[in-house]
Formats: sequence, C-alpha cells, structure tokens
Amino acid sequence: MPSTSAPPTLLQALTAICTRALEASFPGISCAIHVAPSTKGAHYQNNTAMPLFKALKDAGRSAEAASPKAVAEKLAAQMTACDTDGLLARCEVAGPGFINIFVAPAYLESTVNSILRHGPMPPPCAPKRVVVDFSSPNVAKEMHVGHLRSTIIGDTISRLLEFCGHRVDRVNHVGDWGTQFGMLIGHLKNVFPDYATKPPPIGDLQQFYKDAKKVFDDDEAFKKVAHAEVPCPRQAGDADSRFAWRQICEVSRREFEKVYSRLQVELEEVGESFYNEYIPPVIRHLTEIGVAHDSDGAMVLFPPGTKHEQPLIVRKSDGGFGYDSTDMAAVWYRLLELQADWLVYVTDAGQSQHFELIFAAARQAGWVGDKRLDHCPFGLVCGDDGKKFKTRSGDATRLVDRLLDGASRSLLGTSLWDADVAAGKLEPYTDEELLETARVMGYGAVKYADLKGGRVNDYIFSYERMLDDKGGADRPLTARSPRRRERNTAVYLLYAGARLSSIQRKAAATSGASAAELVASGAGVALSMPTELELALALARFGETVEFTTQTLLPNKLCEYVHDVCVKFTAFYLECKVIEEDAVNQSRLLLVRAAQLVIKKANELLGIGYVDKV
Ligand code: ARG
Repeated sequence: MPSTSAPPTLLQALTAICTRALEASFPGISCAIHVAPSTKGAHYQNNTAMPLFKALKDAGRSAEAASPKAVAEKLAAQMTACDTDGLLARCEVAGPGFINIFVAPAYLESTVNSILRHGPMPPPCAPKRVVVDFSSPNVAKEMHVGHLRSTIIGDTISRLLEFCGHRVDRVNHVGDWGTQFGMLIGHLKNVFPDYATKPPPIGDLQQFYKDAKKVFDDDEAFKKVAHAEVPCPRQAGDADSRFAWRQICEVSRREFEKVYSRLQVELEEVGESFYNEYIPPVIRHLTEIGVAHDSDGAMVLFPPGTKHEQPLIVRKSDGGFGYDSTDMAAVWYRLLELQADWLVYVTDAGQSQHFELIFAAARQAGWVGDKRLDHCPFGLVCGDDGKKFKTRSGDATRLVDRLLDGASRSLLGTSLWDADVAAGKLEPYTDEELLETARVMGYGAVKYADLKGGRVNDYIFSYERMLDDKGGADRPLTARSPRRRERNTAVYLLYAGARLSSIQRKAAATSGASAAELVASGAGVALSMPTELELALALARFGETVEFTTQTLLPNKLCEYVHDVCVKFTAFYLECKVIEEDAVNQSRLLLVRAAQLVIKKANELLGIGYVDKV
C-alpha cells in the first residue's frame, strides 16, 4: 500500500486516468496500461491501444472496435471524461493508435506552486527497511577506484531511498577477516613485539601486507604460526591476537574514514568478521534443509536456476570459511534477523555470478519470499588509456586529495575572473567561498562524471577531463563562457544553479521582496510562454524521475533529468525576462525559485553540492 503522505506523481496520475478510461470504455477487459513520456512533441504518450485491441480479439470481443485506431479513439474520449482533476489539456490519437497526451497549464501551475510551498516531493511509497551494502573495501589492502565508485553509487542510491521514506542501513561490508589475517597478526607480533603497549607504526599498511606475505611464502615455520591465528578473533583466539587484529583494522579504518569524510558519505561498518559466528549455524541449517551438500569434505551449494558450473563453497575442505560463507551468513542475517525487505549490493560487475548464486541459494532456502534482492553491478574504472585504472600511489585518500587540489588550482588560477570582478560584472569571492566552491566543484565533477555515464558501463577516470576541461588555453574551470554551457558536467549544473540564485538576489534587490517572501504571502505562478511551460513540465516530472531512478537503481536517470531541467531553464531564460526595466516579473521569479529548489534537491540526491555563485 502506498503511503498517503505524498501526492501521486504526474505519471501515476495520468496512468490512473487511463486505467479509469479503460474500465469505462471496455468493461471487464484486462490489459496493462502503458503511459510514458513522449519523445515526439507531446508531453506523454498512452500506448495501450495496440495490446488492448489484441486483448479484445483474444476475448472474442472484436466487435467492440474495428482497429487499434478505433480502440484509441474510444479510449482517448473516455480519458477526457475521466479527467476529474483537470490534468489534461487534450488527448490526440496519432498514427496507428497512439494517444498523445498534453498536460493542462493550470495543472502545471498548481504543481509549481506546490513545489514552492512544500519543496519537491518524493513519490508516494510504502516504507521498507533496505540494506545497502556498498563501498566495502578490504583491511590492509588498497582502497581502489572501484571502491570509490561503489561509495559514490551506493551513497546516491541510499540518498534516494531515504528521500522516498525508506529506512536505510548503509552497510560497509569491510573485508576485515579471512585467512590473510593470520599472516598479518603473526607478522605484527614479530615486527612490533610491543604492539600491545604502543600503537604499531604501520603507516603504510599495504607495504606491511606485502612484507607479511613475503615472510609467509618463504618461511614454513611462520606459515604454521599464521594458520594457528586464523580463527576469527572477534570471538575466538587469544586476547593478544584479538588486540593485534583490532590494531590492524583501526589503521585501515582511519584511512577509509578520511575518504568518507571528504566525500561526505555516511556508512556504518559491519565487517565480514561480524557474520563469523553465524556461519556454522547457517551451514547447519542449510544442510538440514538439503540445500548444502558435502563434496569431498567441503560444503557446497548448487542453487537451482543458475547457469554456473561453479558452486558456492560455504565451507572449504580444510574447514575454513571464505567469501561465500560470509555472504551466505550475511544474507541470512539481513533477511531474517534484521527483517530487511530489500537488499542492495553495490560492487563491480565481476561479482555478478557470486551474487546470482547467493540470491538463488537464499531463495532455495526459503528466506526471500516476496522481498527484493538486487546486485547493482558497475563497470570497470579505466584510465585515460582505456585500461583498468591503476592508482600510481595506490591510495584512495591521495586520489581524493588530488581532486580537491585540482579543483582549487583551477579556481584560484583564473585571472579572467579578476577582470570581471573589477568591471563590476561579478560579485567578488571571499577566500572561504572560493575554497567551498572548489570543494563542491571538485567532488561534484567526479561524482557526476561517474554517475551520469550509466552504472553498468565502464568509465574513464581522468582528473584532467573532469577538472581541467578547458577547451581554450586559459579558460577557467567554471568559465562563464557560453561554449561550456551545454556540456553535461557537474560544472554546468552548478553553473545553472548559481545563475538561479543570482537572478533571485538581483530581483530581491530590485523589488525589495524575496521569492520566499512572495511565496509566504500566497503568490503563485501564471504561465503562458512555451519555454515557461516546458520548464514547469520538467519540474513536474521530478517525482516520477525519483520513482524510476529508485526502482531501477540507475542514478544516471536522475543525472539526465537534472541536466534536462538546466537545459529547459536556459531556454526559458533566453526567452523570458525576469527583470525588465527595474520591474520584477513575479511569476517568472517564482518559477526560477521552483527550478532552484528542484535542482538543489536533485543535486543533493546525487551527492553533489550547490553553490550560490560561480
Ligand atoms: N570487499 C569486497 C571487495 O573488495 C566487496 C564486498 C561487497 N559486499 C559483499 N557483501 N560481498 O570486492
């Protein structure tokens, strides 16, 4: 049941009209309604007539309509009759049976007025508990750009779900356990014997890992010691090992935290070790219900419906647990202990098979029911050369720092602006504003470049392209140059957003009343120009875009949307003056305000900031 707090989205309202029209014109026939935004001049298109014609034929009711076109005509007439809220301007039958839908200006006005008063609303939604498993780097190993990508995508997905009213567990499934930890703990004890009293100076944990591995490979005696350390120190093992393990995790955690705080991403660490105690009972249960089988001493699962030859191995023949064991226990814990309704895992596409097997096994075990399980795979992160990206420094923190650095340098180094400021065309920056703008631009550039390309596609990670997209030798990053305006980058979005703020500042200075004050006094918009209506329609599509993006878990859909709103705003602003001869056009000022609210909210959902001036 959808919650009643939010009104239906425009698409839902139109679909409801079509549903009523179908019942009124062809009672008793069942056919899926298909309404979608139109790409051919109309606002929306109802494409139900063709399948409906077939359904009538199949039901032996051909006599009711001679052709799909006749079906469409009957349906279109009923749509107008069923439109009790005045949503429709008109419906027109086109081609072999499409119904073109035009939304009424009065409806668009009331939507814009609602945005002004209540802000952009999420779609109506039945609140669920959702676990989003993302970022999830590995202790003592490199947090690579793939983890950065998972962090960015997972954060946006979480923001969207939270905005829709779901309860979201943002879980960082850190790789903090596995056979390698015996080796790491053993090495720590050897190299820093007084680790218990002094925090170990393992500044470069990856080097520490490499050193430990070398000793492990070369030294048989050490190998034995390391194996003895393997039981998960969260519950088992001696106190010293537990302490050593915690020290090692803490060093990694501090590094990860730096990345999260710079990117302003919130996550709760529930690492692999957390599930360790649940593995044996889960395996026992899986064995009892006949889902797990013994295979040469190992416990394996061949869930039905998967094409993979490789089984899940929940216990190795030496009795050890691995990645599969932990994920089986984790999926059990999330579904049955947390009682989550929806699980989302954000990792590289290389793990698709693993999750397909885990989900199929969970279904076979009867844990899933009608709950939703999603693996959100993403493509490779490639370097400029098109090959898998390698960080030279191998360190995500340094990577993130370089981004900020690049953005600041671009902004600080722009002499073009000084001339504009001196000429009184631009408001001057304070140092603080400059740094904040650099921060928003830098991170926005990276996040947007990642999200807009589509999650499943490989993506070329290039600071140069994202931050230094000059086009001309001395063009600054945020150039107010027209050439840059149509580009689909965060810079363009932030630029458009800042324009919206600056128009409002100017209008307030001219008339003495801010847009917010006008809204408070009950003022609303009256739209007539085509570009005003186009912009209003784009704003009215916010709810359905959030709905679609959240259902498909494809953040690029929201990127396309916010870019489209900016494009529509630019077209509006070229055609319609907000301030003319010292007089402010109130309605247009309010439309600008509504566009700002929508862009700000969309940016926030994408994890991108907003700047008031550029
Ligand atoms: N630590 C893993 C990696 O670096 C990602 C973990 C994803 N989550 C999970 N539940 N398996 O690839």
